[in-house]
Amino acid sequence: MKFFVDTADVEEIRDLAATGLVDGITTNPSLVAKSGRKFADVIAEICSIVPGPVSAEVTATDYDTMLKEGRFLRGIADNVAVKVPLTRDGLKACRTLTSEDTMVNVTLCFSPAQAILAAKAGATFLSPFVGRLDDIGQEGMELIGDICEIFANYDSFGTEVLVASTRHPMHVVDAARMGADIVTVPPAVLRKMYDHPLTEKGLKAFLDDWAKTGQSIL
Ligand code: G3P
Repeated sequence: MKFFVDTADVEEIRDLAATGLVDGITTNPSLVAKSGRKFADVIAEICSIVPGPVSAEVTATDYDTMLKEGRFLRGIADNVAVKVPLTRDGLKACRTLTSEDTMVNVTLCFSPAQAILAAKAGATFLSPFVGRLDDIGQEGMELIGDICEIFANYDSFGTEVLVASTRHPMHVVDAARMGADIVTVPPAVLRKMYDHPLTEKGLKAFLDDWAKTGQSIL
């Protein structure tokens, strides 16, 4: 399973990339707005920190302008994955951009039917949003189970399932159980994954006992 981090905060990315656990980055217009920086500058900087795919989202809604924006974003760095919404124009743009060897992340997927269309359109990554389904009282992870099951039936579907809108470590664990290819996590969720009270308690006990020996390893 690959870990992407869902943020446009360059300092967070630098810090988390140092763990060696970050395989890619996802951003969206809301995250870029939060960063308060110029879009192209942020994407260029992120791409220089993380060698894996960095998703940068178009903001046009019509095919022609999406293509222009997608080609511009792709020109920023080789590891840019152009993010397009799961709409008719978005999937048409996906098809054209992938035929030009550009990675495409199809975002805002909320149903298995949409997922099938994205795979047929040749998406490199498909982003189903689990947290936002949970928010409206649906079981977000059921969507991931359905998509993984469907994609496993067809070798011709090369699309990777990128679980997005994750809100807590159990989303990651459930996604791994279901065999999802990638999860993208906000920095806070990635940090929470390290935590367990018994780890803290056990470490404290080991170090207290070690102190009693008066020894040091080095
Ligand atoms: O990558 C998509 C993700 O950022 C959406 O997350 O928490 O805004 O639903 P959220």
